[in-house]
Amino acid sequence: MRINRPKVNIFILVDVLLAVAPCIAGQDTPALKDVFEDHFLIGGALNRWLVSGRNPGAVAIAQKHFNTATAENEMKWQSLNSWPNQYNWQAADSFVDFCGKNKMAPIGHCLVWHSQVPRWLFRDDSGNAITRDALLARMKDHITTVVGRYKGRVKGWDVVNEALNENGTLRNSQWLQIIGEGSEDKKYDFIENAFRWAHEVDPNTELYYNDYSLESSKAKTDGAVAIVKHLKSKGLRIDAVGIQLHGSLTHPSPEGLEYAITSLADAGVKVMVTELDIRTRTRGYRGADIGRINRRSTSDQNATTPEIQKKLADKYAEIFSVLVKHKEYITRVTFWGVYDGASWIGGSPLLFDRSYQPKEAFFAVVKTAQESQ
Ligand code: G3I
Repeated sequence: MRINRPKVNIFILVDVLLAVAPCIAGQDTPALKDVFEDHFLIGGALNRWLVSGRNPGAVAIAQKHFNTATAENEMKWQSLNSWPNQYNWQAADSFVDFCGKNKMAPIGHCLVWHSQVPRWLFRDDSGNAITRDALLARMKDHITTVVGRYKGRVKGWDVVNEALNENGTLRNSQWLQIIGEGSEDKKYDFIENAFRWAHEVDPNTELYYNDYSLESSKAKTDGAVAIVKHLKSKGLRIDAVGIQLHGSLTHPSPEGLEYAITSLADAGVKVMVTELDIRTRTRGYRGADIGRINRRSTSDQNATTPEIQKKLADKYAEIFSVLVKHKEYITRVTFWGVYDGASWIGGSPLLFDRSYQPKEAFFAVVKTAQESQ
């Protein structure tokens, strides 16, 4: 006897899943990008699984709520150029294409960072540290190649990421050690040249300095202000400073966040919140140095309880009240992830839960915009 098995067309299946996905995201909830239309752009960090369509629930959230997006990992040096003279563009191209199709302004993250860089970058063939001139040449080549590829398609670049210590001095990274050569005169040289070359390649793209803990360390904010002033004194373009804002239920204080926003605005740049999330665990290290954090160190077994979710909603509301108050200075707010299931710290730090549903924190954030009208 012949049995007629139903044939499943994988493309039809994907289409059906994508059609169902908006329901998952909650059609009766307002879209964040509409709610904050008169305030600032709203976005999220997207990973490669999302932009390739392998997570339809997350795609639906991003499509509905975001008008900007940042590549969570795909444009980092290690991802693009892990071997000398070899570039792998696939994931970064998919990110930029996804943003184009979905009308999200793409943000490039990041050109010069001490982390997620390949080992060969700071070494010669014998394994010794390369010279200042050689490292400057590698940096110029990378910036020219990457910014050049996406010229006219990326709204702005995190040109330099996390160059500061908590006390506002420059981090003793390989960039500083090799290009700065331990000299006070040369200490900003790697930052200055990175901004200069990015602008030369794409004069229309926005250029940002990006760092964590600015909202909780006045000294670090003052260090960022010093970078802005230095770049401006050299006549170089810097459009904004990104306050990453990896917060917790107990920080930042509204005063700390206001200090960062107003100090940076006074220095003549716009301000962006670039990596917003709120871990529910309050003890331990507060910053966002990937070398000091893992999912275990931020884990909280009570993260999803109603009591903790109420506190999370209150903290988000407090932060957004400050942001809407200072909307004249703020151009963008980006969450570091789309929903709890894809957060770098795990737990329950975002506005959408692991079933893609908006949480109490989502509605608290929406209310801050409505109350500011
Ligand atoms: O993709 C590889 C996979 O092939 C491999 O098997 C696996 C083994 O560990 O690693 C995977 O790569 C990981 C990558 O995330 C993608 O998941 C890396 O190990 C891991 O280190 C990387 O972590 C990222 C981290 O930056 C370091 O680049 C996080 O996802 C990302 O959220 C985090 O983002 C940073 C910002 O760029 C800068 N500000 C702080 C923020 C949080 O640390």
